[in-house]
Amino acid sequence: MAARAPWQRVWIVGASTGIGAEVARQLAQQGVIVAASARSAEKLEAHAARNPGIRPYPLDVTNEAAVASCFARIEADLGAIGLVLVASGAYAPLSVDEFKAENFRATYGVNYMGVIHVLAAVLPTLLNRRKGHVAWIASVSGYRGLPKAAAYGPAKAALINLAESLKPELQARGIDVSVINPGFVRTPMTAVNDFDMPFLMEPEDAARLTIEGLAARKFEIAYPRRFVAILKFARLLPYRLYFRLIRKFVMK
Ligand SMILES: NC(=O)c1ccc[n+]([C@@H]2O[C@H](COP(=O)([O-])OP(=O)(O)OC[C@H]3O[C@@H](n4cnc5c(N)ncnc54)[C@H](OP(=O)(O)O)[C@@H]3O)[C@@H](O)[C@H]2O)c1
Repeated sequence: MAARAPWQRVWIVGASTGIGAEVARQLAQQGVIVAASARSAEKLEAHAARNPGIRPYPLDVTNEAAVASCFARIEADLGAIGLVLVASGAYAPLSVDEFKAENFRATYGVNYMGVIHVLAAVLPTLLNRRKGHVAWIASVSGYRGLPKAAAYGPAKAALINLAESLKPELQARGIDVSVINPGFVRTPMTAVNDFDMPFLMEPEDAARLTIEGLAARKFEIAYPRRFVAILKFARLLPYRLYFRLIRKFVMK
């Protein structure tokens, strides 16, 4: 059972499937009103039908104007939002044979600019209120460069850096910032992976840890603990050793 949620109203972008959908479900179970966004209106409506408390607000996060008007509509309908969580994202492995700028634009558009669009929409209101919590899902793949993640990994690294950059100023203005760095979680996104995913987690556990970390107002929420410890250690290794380990364990 997740920690008791300290928010009355939450907006989750990327709430139709995977981690975002499960966070929405668990929060709704605790009596939180959840504005749930993603592109798929049907999935959001089905989600809402199963979970009173979830309200669908379909949205493409790559459309800046649509994000701004969606947030205005949500607050007009439901009242002040206490937590904004961006869980939208897209992953496609990228080999050097498919090195096209378009692949990078698409990945950055959803994963990085999606978060920027949400922040641009919500920050003026939260800054006025001197209150609120903004959070987004990056990834442990943002810790260091990994094979086949040339488009996805740098976008996630940028999201971690973005959180580090914004936290001191926003905290001083009364707004909490959290970045969530999951390892492998069983969701539609990872269903395409054709390799054994180490320390694979279930979305229910990922969502519970996410809610607990957010409720405790942690800056970084990273899981599963052992995988995160290994990857944080790998971050400290000199390049020669790091690349040797990547060749041996990742590219084998
Ligand atoms: N699963 C993992 O192992 C893992 C590990 C590390 C980090 N992450 C990150 O965790 C987050 C959630 O991923 P997940 O595994 O739960 O994947 P998922 O099940 O594929 O969920 C992705 C969500 O993003 C939404 N989305 C995608 N493009 C969108 C767009 N343009 N506008 C609005 N919503 C959009 C999807 O809904 P629609 O398709 O309906 O729009 C869906 O709700 C992502 O940021 C992902 O990079 C996942």
